[in-house]
Amino acid sequence: MIDHMPEDVSPAGRDLRAYTDQLRPLHPVIRNNVGDWVLLRHADVVAAALDDERFSSAVSRHLQIPNGLDGADHTRFRAVIDRYMTQDALAPFLQKFEDVAVQLMASLPHGKPLEAVGGIGAVFAVRAQCAWLGWPADLEPRLLGWMEANHAATRSGEDQRTAQVAADFDSIIDSVLAPRLADIDAAPDDVTTQLCRDTVDGRPLSRAELTSILRNWTGGDLGSMALCVGVLVAHLAGDAKLAGHLRQASDAEVDRVIDEILRLDDPFISNRRVTTCPVQINGREIPAGARIKLIWTSANRDEAVFGENNFAPDTNAAANLVYGIGRHVCPGRYLATCQLRIALRALLAAAERLEFVAGDPPEREVSPVGGYRRVPIMLG
Ligand code: HEM
Repeated sequence: MIDHMPEDVSPAGRDLRAYTDQLRPLHPVIRNNVGDWVLLRHADVVAAALDDERFSSAVSRHLQIPNGLDGADHTRFRAVIDRYMTQDALAPFLQKFEDVAVQLMASLPHGKPLEAVGGIGAVFAVRAQCAWLGWPADLEPRLLGWMEANHAATRSGEDQRTAQVAADFDSIIDSVLAPRLADIDAAPDDVTTQLCRDTVDGRPLSRAELTSILRNWTGGDLGSMALCVGVLVAHLAGDAKLAGHLRQASDAEVDRVIDEILRLDDPFISNRRVTTCPVQINGREIPAGARIKLIWTSANRDEAVFGENNFAPDTNAAANLVYGIGRHVCPGRYLATCQLRIALRALLAAAERLEFVAGDPPEREVSPVGGYRRVPIMLG
């Protein structure tokens, strides 16, 4: 254990996966340069995520539904959100996601370099999410521009920049909410309108609540989906045998393979908690009110659980933490898995081979973002 990170082990400018692989065996709990307690081991991350009384999710002064709520408040809002994420609720959209994927992959050039994170992942994520929520296709350039600005703000770590992109996103959400709320009877029949008509405790959701829920379904997840596509494409471009095998595999097998690739290289780095009382983690005394970071990327590669981190989808599935665990476990898991599988299948169907570009290797992201910044590939 180290109290504060010495300069030479600062994560700044480092690949977070490599960085946490190096720290984890020696330092299960570290404190970063802003005083957060950073949990790197699987057992500690799981224990904190499961103990939602002592590890509160009320980490932000902004309304965050449902991720910033605890206890009964969380339960009632989570019930609203879960209704939209069931297999039955999502069944009508799977064909739409497939149409989006097939059309996008058919438009990609063959034999010319293209970039998988921005050119495939981000575009697919925005189109699929617009198809689900009923948002107009002409929002696409604005959403793609916003994703880039958001990514740059996260990388910069500047609060003011982050606040500006958050405000920009709220104005995008406002452009879809305002016309619906102005005349709900004339609103199009889609998921966003359904949410506008929805209730919690028998009363309509407020505008602030609607904005927060929609921000959660899009703001963070579009970027995560794009990064996930980058990680998957990079893995498959480096493993032609696995790519070939997946062309014949069942949906269930493709899903297990996707989960395992993302476990090994989880681009959804972390979530925060705050302690409600003094706690002990790995023999370390941590006071009440301490800020805690659960590093999923590191926990997902903990050698105490995953040994040498060999690629083993079946063996490793039970301990996989890509979608979290406990009360806040990702309600969008089924949606994300379907979208990733549909995108991957369409890409594999559109190209006989996925190849890296000679002289332009994939570029890793650096802390605090995970996965790849760029994955240049060619379709053969
Ligand atoms: C591959 C993409 C995704 C990954 C890796 C991912 C991962 C996660 C993780 C690790 C958590 C736990 C957060 C915590 O414990 O504090 C979470 C929560 C959440 N995710 Fe996802 N997610 C993804 C996609 C999605 C999608 C597509 C949606 C919805 C459209 C979604 C909606 C949510 C929500 C609403 C929460 C908060 C749940 C709560 O607080 O009860 N996620 N996600």
